[in-house]
This record gives sequence, C-alpha cells and structure tokens, in this order.
Amino acid sequence: MTLMIRPIALLATVVLVGCGGEPKSVGQSTYERYCYVCHAAGTASAPRFARPEDWAGRLERTDEEIFKRVVDGIPPAMPPRGLCTCDDETLRAATDYLLDSVRGENR
Ligand code: HEC
Repeated sequence: MTLMIRPIALLATVVLVGCGGEPKSVGQSTYERYCYVCHAAGTASAPRFARPEDWAGRLERTDEEIFKRVVDGIPPAMPPRGLCTCDDETLRAATDYLLDSVRGENR
C-alpha cells in the first residue's frame, strides 16, 4: 500500500512546489497541520515524532494495523483520524511521515 501512496504524494509535492509553496510533502504538511500539536511534544503522552524510544512496542504492529488504529482512534487520548478531516490517502501519508521519523527514514 505504501508503495502505491508514495508516487501520489510525490506528485502532489511537485504540484505544491509549482504553486510557489514550500517544498513539503502532503504527509509533512498534513502532519504539521493535524498531528504535530500532540505528536511533537508528546501531549497527552502521544508517542513523539523522531523519538524511537517512544515507539517501542508500537512498531511491532504492521502498517495496516497501525493505520487502522489511527482511523479508529485510541481512547482516550488519540482522537479518530487524529482530527484530520482529510481522505484516507492523505491520512496515510501523514501516518507514514510520522512513522518514517521513528524508523530513521526522514531524519
Ligand atoms: C489530541 C492529540 C493527538 C492528535 C491531534 C493526534 N494524535 Fe496520534 N496519538 C495520540 C496519543 C495520546 C497516542 C497514544 C495513544 C495510546 O496508545 O494510548 C497516539 C498514537 C498514535 C499512533 C500510534 C498508534 C499505535 O498503533 O500505537 C499513531 C501512528 C498516531 N497517533 C498517528 C497520528 C496522526 C497521523 C495524527 C494526525 C493525523 C495524529 N496521530 C494526531 C494523540 C494525538
């Protein structure tokens, strides 16, 4: 699934850059808009961006399992879809952006 999403995110990045915006991926801009508020500082004990130590145990799940938890939310503190009013593709890009930061792929 990730393999299918990445080229689309890349394409969207090119479109955004073409409009004179900052060269951010859809995943990054969505993360910054909706997820950063909790996942940057660890608000409400959210596992933090680029802090693999916060993700011990969580990364043993498959991407599909993790994504389902993002969609459903994790009571009480992780709201369904992380409050993102976006479509699944965009939500997945934001999730990948967050997960990549703790797997060392975009640091
Ligand atoms: C209101 C605060 C808040 C917002 C906004 C938020 N999260 Fe979370 N998130 C949490 C908390 C708290 C947890 C830990 C929940 C737990 O395990 O009890 C969490 C857990 C997660 C996890 C780990 C899931 C797992 O399987 O362990 C992922 C991935 C995640 N969030 C992605 C996102 C994404 C993507 C967004 C933005 C679209 C987002 N979150 C927005 C608070 C938030």
